Amino acid sequence: MRVTMIGSGYVGLVSGACFADFGHEVICVDLDAGKIAALNRGEIPIFEPGLDELVASNVRAGRLSFTTELAASVRHAEAVFIAVGTPSRRGDGHADLSYVHQAARDVAAAIGGFTVVVTKSTVPVGTGDEVERIMREARPDGDFAVVSNPEFLREGAAIADFKRPDRIVIGTEDPRARKVMEELYRPLYLNAAPLLFTARRTSELIKYAANAYLATKITFINEIADLCEQVGANVQEVARGIGLDNRIGGKFLHAGPGYGGSCFPKDTLALMKTAQDMASPLRIVETVVAVNDQRKRAMARKVVAACGGSVRGKRIAVLGLAFKPNTDDMREAPSLAIITALTDAGAQIVAYDPESMDSARPLLPEIAYAPDAYACLEGADALVIVTEWNAFRALDLDRVKAALKRPVVIDLRNIYRSSEMRQRGFEYLNIGNA
Ligand SMILES: NC(=O)c1ccc[n+]([C@@H]2O[C@H](COP(=O)([O-])OP(=O)(O)OC[C@H]3O[C@@H](n4cnc5c(N)ncnc54)[C@H](O)[C@@H]3O)[C@@H](O)[C@H]2O)c1
Repeated sequence: MRVTMIGSGYVGLVSGACFADFGHEVICVDLDAGKIAALNRGEIPIFEPGLDELVASNVRAGRLSFTTELAASVRHAEAVFIAVGTPSRRGDGHADLSYVHQAARDVAAAIGGFTVVVTKSTVPVGTGDEVERIMREARPDGDFAVVSNPEFLREGAAIADFKRPDRIVIGTEDPRARKVMEELYRPLYLNAAPLLFTARRTSELIKYAANAYLATKITFINEIADLCEQVGANVQEVARGIGLDNRIGGKFLHAGPGYGGSCFPKDTLALMKTAQDMASPLRIVETVVAVNDQRKRAMARKVVAACGGSVRGKRIAVLGLAFKPNTDDMREAPSLAIITALTDAGAQIVAYDPESMDSARPLLPEIAYAPDAYACLEGADALVIVTEWNAFRALDLDRVKAALKRPVVIDLRNIYRSSEMRQRGFEYLNIGNA
């Protein structure tokens, strides 16, 4: 099938490359000429494991190409995906739909024959109706159907998630659109990924409900971790103890510094706003948002306490900046709030991250960046582990101890064992473990 992807960011580029890999003919479009020029030179603008080879092999096979020319790429497409950003709107926290609406107008002007327009961006319930209205206004004669198909991939494991999803949710009641969507995803449901067809509004809400539920699970275990610290219990054992119950499940029960990233913060906020507007407030989600916001600065207070009550003039080493391992994405990373609070308190920060330092520099211009993990620790009064990259899980602890001025380690991801760290002479603090 001929597929056009509007927006070539984390979602557009990964889904475009995966659809090409299924055998479809895919054109990825972006407004950002620099991004398209880089892709045409064979450079991948983001860090996502396996994406460079996937893109290269499909470009070589002639199934994947990149352009800034939206109209020409849409004219012959059977399916056009909208995968542009939907960030939080400044001021009120609603999803900013200006990119989606602009894409809808541009697509409407360009379609040829029957075209299925698929919203892959995460959008508030009712956005499909608005996209349809905008398109109909621009092209009263146009033959098209607007479908919702939210994306559930995780950065860092995006290709595997796209190719082996737990489910594919498709919101449409149009039989012609349903056929096109079945054909697009046929390679996946032959491998038994359930294709769940729903009404469009239901599909839009499934995405937000899923993210809000996962954010709630993380926030729940984070609060249990705080209680563990007060009562002398161990949160990892509590998580295992509850997670083995199939009704609960063990995933998303890792206590840490609070969720961040490009999705959970903005999606929980947008869902909360929609629910308030509909006079059907989601009290649990409101609480999750508030608890998570406070948690990041609370992590900075934990570091200050571990440093004897003050970090003024102290050198603090931070390992990990990205919001999670295996990505260079810094959007809403907990490191941003933690580092800002520590700098406010007078600390000098030296940081290292294997992939995200280029994206971090403009956001954290006042801190120093080290070329590797051990250089980062040199002469530091304390080490704070913020992102659990594999490379940080097996540090040479003798080298760590020798490099630090004081052997203080605050492990916000629980990647070391307290007993071992204390035995080796570290002052070691982690999350939810008295
Ligand atoms: N990042 C994730 O892990 C993830 C997972 C699931 C869903 N989502 C959702 O997918 C959507 C996209 O997220 P992302 O992380 O890929 O965003 P992103 O910012 O990485 O990419 C969006 C791209 O769209 C381009 N763009 C904007 N308007 C355009 C237009 N009119 N025409 C062409 N290109 C345009 C931008 O230049 C940018 O390159 C969001 O709604 C997000 O919530 C993201």
